[in-house]
Amino acid sequence: MKKNVSFILFVIVFVQGKCLFSEKIFNIMSTLKRKIISILLNPTVDVIYEIEHFKVGHTYQVRQPLIYPVGKAISFSLALKTLNPSFNDLRVFGFVGKEELDLYSQFLKKNLINFEFIPIKGKTRSNKTIIDPVEHTTTHIRELGFIIETTELNQFFTSLNNMIQKNDVVIFTGSIPPSLNSDTYFNLISEVKKRGACTILDTSGEGLIKGIAANPTMIKPNLIELNQILNGSLAIKQDFTINYEDIVKISKLAKNLLNNELEIILITLGEKGAILVKNNIILYGFIEIRGAIDTVGCGDAFLAGFIYNYFQEKSFLDCFKLALACGTANALTPGPGILKKKDVDMLLSKTKIWRVN
Ligand SMILES: Nc1ncnc2c1ncn2[C@@H]1O[C@H](COP(=O)(O)OP(=O)(O)OP(=O)(O)O)[C@@H](O)[C@H]1O
Ligand SMILES: [Mg+2]
Repeated sequence: MKKNVSFILFVIVFVQGKCLFSEKIFNIMSTLKRKIISILLNPTVDVIYEIEHFKVGHTYQVRQPLIYPVGKAISFSLALKTLNPSFNDLRVFGFVGKEELDLYSQFLKKNLINFEFIPIKGKTRSNKTIIDPVEHTTTHIRELGFIIETTELNQFFTSLNNMIQKNDVVIFTGSIPPSLNSDTYFNLISEVKKRGACTILDTSGEGLIKGIAANPTMIKPNLIELNQILNGSLAIKQDFTINYEDIVKISKLAKNLLNNELEIILITLGEKGAILVKNNIILYGFIEIRGAIDTVGCGDAFLAGFIYNYFQEKSFLDCFKLALACGTANALTPGPGILKKKDVDMLLSKTKIWRVN
């Protein structure tokens, strides 16, 4: 990215400035033991095939696919646990099909992730991903998800209310199952906020647009999702190349969405990096890598990096750096939320961050 000299100088002043490094996120800490709760409404059994020179309309014989009983809340949790395997203040809470309950339980136990599920009569959806390691393409086939009945949803609300304590961090990530209303995240965020928890929304479409109206503390849209919130006013092309003017334009539009309750917007731009928008600061950062293998779940890993440091009251710069390193590390290893700690450490030293405002 090309920038003029004054912009680069501003970066240096900023990086040496005290403000960002000393800024803390939680002013008053509760004496209760806080936790991170990652909400899983629409789990997925991810099936990943590796096919060289993949083309539409052809037939392929494949080796055993990789199978991950996940969902975005689990990808988030896997990435977070990679940063610190002994981190125990994390819990996945959500729905899972009765038939897949064992698969999920065993997988989460193996990964030392605490969980609580409301079992659903229907079958958990299965999503297929085809990775072409030669042409560097990724193809996704997605199913919609199971039917959730009113009694199951009520059970979910009751358990969630019992679980939440003041200053918990609650992550609402992924799609809403087709049988639930698109205002489900709005209702859940409103409920959880009443109990004094911090809320983070990472979803798309109607669920995102309606969910934002509940004013979560933080949102993490990618550019397409931000454009949905802004009703298409970004007018970004598919193959856009990011430049300084674009970053300023995106940040300004995003900043208009902030208010007393919605404090932070993290806009992820895939390989072009990410933007952090806060009332008093806007940062742009990226890490250059060659040979991304699998970008599914980069956003979840990005959020995991941010929340891991946020939960520990690190500076926003440290939260943002770790987010970039985790998002990028996720692209280097197949599987959503699967990353290597050594890649994260290596990428942290390659992170470039600029102050935009
Ligand atoms: N090809 C890549 N090279 C370098 N970094 C990447 C690449 N893809 C993703 N990242 C990193 O991961 C972050 C999140 O990626 P992205 O914007 O694709 O999230 P997303 O669209 O929410 O993904 P998902 O919803 O699948 O988790 C980016 O901001 C960037 O830091
Ligand atoms: Mg995403």
